[in-house]
Amino acid sequence: MARRKKIYEGKAKIMYEGPEPGTLVQYFKDDATAFNAEKRATIEGKGVLNNRLSEFFMKGLTQIGVPNHFIKRINMREQLIRSVEIIPLEVIVRNFAAGSLSTRMGLAEGTALPRPIVEFCLKDDKLGDPLVSEEHITAFGWATQQDLDDMVSLALRVNDFMSGLMLAVGIKLVDFKIEIGRIWDNDFQRLIVADEISPDSCRLWDIETGQKLDKDVFRRDLGNLTDAYTEVARRLGVLPSNV
Ligand code: C5P
Repeated sequence: MARRKKIYEGKAKIMYEGPEPGTLVQYFKDDATAFNAEKRATIEGKGVLNNRLSEFFMKGLTQIGVPNHFIKRINMREQLIRSVEIIPLEVIVRNFAAGSLSTRMGLAEGTALPRPIVEFCLKDDKLGDPLVSEEHITAFGWATQQDLDDMVSLALRVNDFMSGLMLAVGIKLVDFKIEIGRIWDNDFQRLIVADEISPDSCRLWDIETGQKLDKDVFRRDLGNLTDAYTEVARRLGVLPSNV
């Protein structure tokens, strides 16, 4: 089989040139990293689960009119996506305090927030993805004010969709991160959801027990990560047998 051109290799995914201009093949690896890649492991089956779960979430977003990069799943580990120019910001939405917000604000994990809070971090591994303000973003030209308004709107729509979906299967969506990219349709720029949506980039807690069903299981050594992700997939009807 002809070798494909590798465009980029990240911590959890590889991008290959797609079959058509404007497309890419996104390959989900089993690699897990945390704390800016200071902690690493290979977790068998994670890539397969995340490929399937990201497909499920992106297809649902398409159904409710939230534009995103997903075109189709190709196989167990690969999906065809639209190629975008990634805006170099991580867009985080929080419904409950956890992780870095709890540390920064001295809030107990699980404290309900008065409303969903959107944060931006600069995508820069060397700097450890620092939190940045809207002032920084527009002043340094990473995005315009219009882009920011569109990013907040997209992030909150994803939050509403994901929160409802999770609530229906007994899971609390504590927070999540998305990445957003630019595409051009006839010189007209649009922003769309890109990268992935999976338990790698969300905090998901069982509503009854508080059990963590996300990457914190790996970050904090709380058990078997594949079991946690499989449980999320099972509840959503993305059964392991279909994975
Ligand atoms: O670490 P922090 O509390 O800021 O993370 C907030 C959310 O963003 C979590 O759901 C985490 O999994 C996600 N995140 C991510 N990639 C990063 C940083 C955070 O997916 N580089």
